[in-house]
Amino acid sequence: MLHKEFVPETSENLPKNGKVTWQSPSNIALVKYWGKKENQIPANPSVSFTLSNCHSTTSFQYQRTESATLEFDFYFEGVKKDDFKPKIQKFFERIRDYSPYLQSYKLEIHSENSFPHSSGIASSASGMSALALCVMSLEKAIFPAMSLEYFNRKASFLARLGSGSASRSIEGPLVEWGKHADFEESSDLFGINYPHELHEVFKTYKDTILLVDKGQKTVSSTLGHDLMHGNPFAEARFKQANSNLAKLIPILQSGDLPAFIEIVESEALSLHAVMLSSIPYFILMKPNTLEIIQRIWEFRRETGVPVCFTLDAGANVHVLYPQHSENEVLELIKNELVAYCENGHYICDEIGSGARRIDNG
Ligand code: DP6
Repeated sequence: MLHKEFVPETSENLPKNGKVTWQSPSNIALVKYWGKKENQIPANPSVSFTLSNCHSTTSFQYQRTESATLEFDFYFEGVKKDDFKPKIQKFFERIRDYSPYLQSYKLEIHSENSFPHSSGIASSASGMSALALCVMSLEKAIFPAMSLEYFNRKASFLARLGSGSASRSIEGPLVEWGKHADFEESSDLFGINYPHELHEVFKTYKDTILLVDKGQKTVSSTLGHDLMHGNPFAEARFKQANSNLAKLIPILQSGDLPAFIEIVESEALSLHAVMLSSIPYFILMKPNTLEIIQRIWEFRRETGVPVCFTLDAGANVHVLYPQHSENEVLELIKNELVAYCENGHYICDEIGSGARRIDNG
């Protein structure tokens, strides 16, 4: 199905060449997206904190050609990477109707991540959102009257077609994606800035990512999403996500941290529970993931410090806590949790405000 609002008019006004660079962050979901329909439509709505330090920087050089077929080269950290091309090619195919002007260009794309490539941190959210933003900057050069609202919305729409979670990496500090009755403007097609009141405590929230396993994931997210089709608990899981999103609204407003912790941890465990119950079943947590979770629970019980964990589709643990607990939590990490990290590695991050263009455009 074609979404007409994102199909541009034809234009003769195609710039000859140019270059644009975007830095786009990763995000960590509080309510998880796991399960999708055709064309990257999520099976349930999700909401995430936009991160700050974990980001991709992508530059996009475009040159007009006469060939009428998009051509591109892709470089990762300065090295030409033909093995990354099929994923990007697929993205360009999916957005073809929405960015037809791309067919008139040859592109040179350079990308790098602020986090180590082999860290087990998925780069699809930051990488695909950065690429979508570059495409939008070219579109804006063709249609200069475009509003910022449309620019961001379509950037999220395109990013979603690259990777679902990338739709939540354009803006910040919190982004909701997927139709939900309590979010009037919400859509399955793009993420929106969280529209409800956000308590001060969440505006400076911290996320320290403990790198438990830096290896390649054994099951890709794409395959994992697909397995939700035959999962006997799928409908209950989608219902739970909808209900958790509704429950979060008053919690994010009042700053009720115990209630926040309960929902966030339950979401992480439910995500992994549906992996355990898929056919074929799989486990992405490692023994050290569980050690860290146990230790966080003990520490919270002993000290009352409102620290909690969440997980994405892997073994790494995101440790979430308010800024006012930073000293105690960093002590816990340095004294105890670091022992469970591969080579003692972890990354300190915090809630961020979204992507930014970093050339002079
Ligand atoms: C567990 O966005 O990586 O991180 O749409 O197939 O690219 P694709 O999947 P992806 O899935 C992310 C899943 C998750 C939860 C979340 O970020 O909401």
